[in-house]
This record gives sequence, structure tokens and C-alpha cells, in this order.
Amino acid sequence: MKVKLSSLAVAIAVTAVSSVAWASAVRDEPITPIQPYVSENPAKVQLGKKLFFEPRLSMSGIISCNTCHNLSRGGTDNLATSIGHGWAAGPVNAPTVLNSSLAIAQFWDGRAADLQEQAAGPIQADIEMNMPHTLALDVLNSIPGYQDEFEQVFGSRDITIDMVTAAIAEFEETLVTPNARFDQWLKGDDNAITAYELEGYKIFKDSGCTACHNGEAAGGTSFQRMGIVRAYESTSPVEGRYSITGNDADRFSFKVPTLRNVEYTYPYFHDGQANTLEESVDIMGQIQLGRHYTEEEIDKIVAFLKTLTGDMPQLTLPILPPSSNDTPRPDPFR
Ligand code: HEC
Ligand code: HEC
Repeated sequence: MKVKLSSLAVAIAVTAVSSVAWASAVRDEPITPIQPYVSENPAKVQLGKKLFFEPRLSMSGIISCNTCHNLSRGGTDNLATSIGHGWAAGPVNAPTVLNSSLAIAQFWDGRAADLQEQAAGPIQADIEMNMPHTLALDVLNSIPGYQDEFEQVFGSRDITIDMVTAAIAEFEETLVTPNARFDQWLKGDDNAITAYELEGYKIFKDSGCTACHNGEAAGGTSFQRMGIVRAYESTSPVEGRYSITGNDADRFSFKVPTLRNVEYTYPYFHDGQANTLEESVDIMGQIQLGRHYTEEEIDKIVAFLKTLTGDMPQLTLPILPPSSNDTPRPDPFR
């Protein structure tokens, strides 16, 4: 369950960090501060963290969630499109897992309603981890260390896929990045961002970027067409939400990505074809708003976007329980 630190009582508990740390925004803006997340079930979070880093959930034995959502690199793989089992290229760019709990749905086309539903996909997807759920469960159920931990968290040693995905989702809920300089500014600290960055925010807001990039994550609140004023040129065959709804109006409609930590999550767009923030801002201006920004305007917007980098989760690498003699072995070349 999600608990937000909004009550005063909890705010006092964290005052040691900073006296105004989790106050709510004093500025009324379309982007709102990220609230820290405190899980009511730390044991479930720790188990989910292990599973997130667990390469034995893949057929090859070397691919974990963290391979493509590298938490040392902003929760992405920084590739145009992901590479999974057998060195197979996926069709789309890996979105960050940071703050993904804040989005209305998961995946570029929103085909999973929430994080738990999402987590079931990559384990068995042949171009990702290529591991049938039955085999993944055979692996986990053969490892006494995992059985103990699942029993502690779920009250059963008989591990099911729902337990696996619930634990991963609970861990992912903790991957929020509060306390960005922009959030400090939203909360009233005038000096948290420079005049130049503020000018960038004004251009961003006044030209209409916030129509789509809004809310806590500066994105993730709606599905929008990629190419409103002008078509987006892409060689990618991906058609966005149309592939889910079959509705013509949804063709090339994608979940608006978060702009939190965007300086880390290059390359950009669902096809990963924009290498730099400058390029993606230029393209967005032209195809979504019909604006041709000057180099200086682009520079200012990019400076603003970099103020959206928050405190990334500081993680200790989990030590995974050893396999037993009965654990099915990986098959990297299958
Ligand atoms: C081979 C690389 C790869 C692996 C391994 C992988 N992912 Fe992903 N992940 C992706 C790609 C690519 C997408 C986007 C797919 C799409 O939208 O169609 C994605 C999407 C997601 C999303 C949705 C984010 C959003 O903003 O919509 C989440 C959450 C996520 N993955 C979590 C996980 C978890 C948990 C695991 C491990 C069980 C995992 N991923 C394993 C590449 C990977
Ligand atoms: C009509 C809605 C809309 C507007 C307006 C809009 N965007 Fe976007 N933005 C999107 C969508 C949708 C995507 C993802 C498109 C894709 O990858 O196919 C996106 C992607 C991006 C990305 C890439 C993020 C990533 O992780 O790949 C950046 C950066 C961005 N927008 C910045 C801006 C800026 C700056 C403006 C204003 C000039 C702007 N956007 C205006 C909808 C919008």
C-alpha cells in the first residue's frame, strides 16, 4: 500500500533532513513536487529488490530487471532500443523505472494497468528474459533462502508468480526521486534554481509543454499523439496505443514520458532516435507545438530540465541466496 508523507506528524519525523524538506508546494504550478515513499512492509521491499537484481529469473542466467533498468544509470539501459535474451533487439526504448509508480499505466502504450501487472511481462518475454513462469518458479522454489523469505513476507513457502510480481512492484514503489532542485523551488526556495533555469521553465510552461508534461512526474498523466502539428518521422514500426485499442485515433499515441531525471535517461523517444536533450526539445517544439526555438531558448529549456533530477535511491547491492543442488541451471544459448 502506498503511504505518502503528507501529514504533519510524519513531516516532523524527517525534519532532521531539512526543515522544509517535505512541505507541500507553495507555488501553484502544473508540475508538483514528488513525495517520498515509505513502505509499510520493508521486508517485502527487500525481497522485491532481490528479485529485481535476480538474473536467475532469466533463461540465460545473466539478465535481470536491472540489466535494462540499471539503477546506477537512472533506471535505463541508455540504448536506443533494449537488447535481451540471445542478443535480440527489442522494438522500443526502455523507459526508466524511477518514478514509474506515478504514471497512469505502464509501458509506452499503457498495456499494463500497474507495476504488478507489468512485472509479469519481461520475465517470459522471449526478447527480454525468455523464462517461462513455471521454470522461474521452479528456480525460486528450489532455493531455501528464497522459500524462507517468501514465507516471512507472504506466509507461504510455495512461491507463486503473483507473489514474485507483488514483491517487485513494492520495491519499484520505493524508486521515487524527491528533492530535485526544481521541487525545492516549488516549495518556496527562490535560490534552488538559477535565473537562467527559471527562464527555461517559463518558456517550457508558456509555450505549452506542460499541457502534457505535468503532475509529480512531469509526464505519465496521459496518452498523447506523437506528432500533433507535424508528423514524427520514424523508421520504427511501433504504433503506440493503437495496438491495444485498435482505434484509429490512437495511432502513434504514447504515454507521455516522465521528464524527471531526464538528463540520465538518454536516448529519447519510444524509438530512442533522439540522442540529446537539445535534439528532443527541438523536435518536441516543432511537432507538438509548431514552435521553432532558437538555440538559446533550447539551451534554457534544457537547463531547466536538468533541475528535475532528484535524489536517486541509494541502494546496497542485495546478496542473493545461493542455488541448491536441485536448482535448474541457466541455458544461455537456448
Ligand atoms: C531486455 C531489457 C529489459 C528487461 C530485462 C526488463 N525490461 Fe522493463 N522494459 C524494457 C523495455 C524495452 C520497456 C518498454 C516496453 C514497452 O513499452 O513496450 C520496459 C518497460 C518497463 C516498465 C514500464 C515503465 C513505463 O514507464 O512504462 C517497467 C515498470 C519495467 N519495464 C520494469 C521491469 C521489471 C520489473 C523487469 C524485471 C522483471 C524488467 N522491466 C525487465 C526493457 C527491459
Ligand atoms: C501534446 C503533448 C505533448 C507536448 C505539448 C509536449 N510533449 Fe514532450 N512528449 C510527449 C510524448 C507523447 C512523448 C513521447 C513520444 C514518443 O516517444 O513517441 C514526449 C517526449 C518528450 C521527451 C523525451 C522523453 C523521453 O524520455 O524519451 C522530452 C525531452 C520532451 N517530450 C520534452 C518536451 C518539451 C520541452 C515540450 C515543449 C516544447 C514538450 N515535450 C511538449 C508529449 C508532449
